[in-house]
Amino acid sequence: MNPIKHVAIIMDGNGRWGINKKRSRNFGHKQGLKTVEKIIIESLKKNIKFLTLFAFSTENWKRPKSEIKFLFSLLEDFLVKNIKDFNKKKIKLSVIGKKKFSKKLNKLLKESEKLTSKNNKLQINLALNYGSKSEIVNAFMVIKKKGLKISEKTISRNLYTSDIPDPDILIRTGNTNRLSNFLLWQLAYSEIFFEKKLWPDFNKNDYNRIINNYKKIKRNFGNI
Ligand code: IPE
Ligand code: IPE
Ligand code: MG
Repeated sequence: MNPIKHVAIIMDGNGRWGINKKRSRNFGHKQGLKTVEKIIIESLKKNIKFLTLFAFSTENWKRPKSEIKFLFSLLEDFLVKNIKDFNKKKIKLSVIGKKKFSKKLNKLLKESEKLTSKNNKLQINLALNYGSKSEIVNAFMVIKKKGLKISEKTISRNLYTSDIPDPDILIRTGNTNRLSNFLLWQLAYSEIFFEKKLWPDFNKNDYNRIINNYKKIKRNFGNI
């Protein structure tokens, strides 16, 4: 049985879900947050230590302003509503990506990280304004600045994910088989599960099925 420490998820399909329900894309985003809550609870139950959620990519700025505004207001409400409970549950919140949002959101994110920084039951890495290529470029710049040698170790140590193990599992919902600039370095040996379901329809049974399938996989890491 494979141990499982880190699950990464590309939560895709909210917009299509809203449209399929004859509502708006934003309605889908709102519904998607309910899945986020369910998956966090299930991750706690399964004793998973790291959960990395792709919430907004560096490319998502191309979307209409109104959708972007809605997404960030949802995030603000979500944090305000949940952060105390996360803290009680010993969840640590960490943002990966460049924190370049409104003053209000930047402050809220920083405060949430600070409040939960000592927790160790589950670390949620929220990928926000995250792009893997920009993360790697940033790592190289830091390495240069520190005068270090370039190696796999120094690169890994200067990514946003420096202190956490690489994902064991990547899940992408939404019936789309691509990585969309997510954790390109860290996913080198992850087990990848592309799911047909749209994110708001994804549930704890789907999550458990993936975890159980993952446990049975023979992970070679190049060996036989
Ligand atoms: C959610 O799904 C991902 C986010 C960027 C928040 P989408 O908004 O990409 O939904 P689809 O893929 O258009 O259905
Ligand atoms: C990836 O989904 C980003 C997030 C889930 C936040 P997208 O819907 O933005 O990906 P593409 O553009 O279809 O590849
Ligand atoms: Mg999408």
